[in-house]
Amino acid sequence: MTIAVYPGSFDPLTNGHLDIIRRASRLFDRVLVSVLENEGKSPMFSVAERMELLARCTKDISGVEVHSFTGLLVDFMRRSNANVVVRGIRAVSDYEYELQMALMNRELYDGAETIFMIPAVEYTYVSSRLVKEVFRLGGDVASLVPEPVIEALSARLGTARR
Ligand code: PNS
Repeated sequence: MTIAVYPGSFDPLTNGHLDIIRRASRLFDRVLVSVLENEGKSPMFSVAERMELLARCTKDISGVEVHSFTGLLVDFMRRSNANVVVRGIRAVSDYEYELQMALMNRELYDGAETIFMIPAVEYTYVSSRLVKEVFRLGGDVASLVPEPVIEALSARLGTARR
């Protein structure tokens, strides 16, 4: 059985993340979508809220589970018997940081193999950071995030400007 981890901040989940999750679910027996508990990043949504959104939006995708972790990703992988890290790569600019992480994770745990996946082309410019910024400034992000995320953004930031 191949168990993959798809780690990230998911603050919040975007359609790009969801696209990668769907693609990964076709390749691996189990995909552990794993939210990093890192309060240092001052997230908009709590870990529990992000996990809830992920769970709602992935409930129909077989083999997908939602988890959270603290500390090193490789320690979470060891605990979970996972041997693959899935990361989405959008543009060349993502590559340098992702290469460093992949090599560091392999150095720390030889059993960690990183697989880079490319999202559908319409999501290659989508990021959680930009979604939050555009929504906050009154822009329409309905085609970029799932409906439950729009509801969560509206509840957090209000809909007055829309
Ligand atoms: O979606 P993000 O914020 O780019 O995800 C980054 C993440 C969570 C994959 C990365 O920060 C991570 O794995 N953090 C856990 C701590 C760790 O293992 N650090 C060393 C990795 S090289």
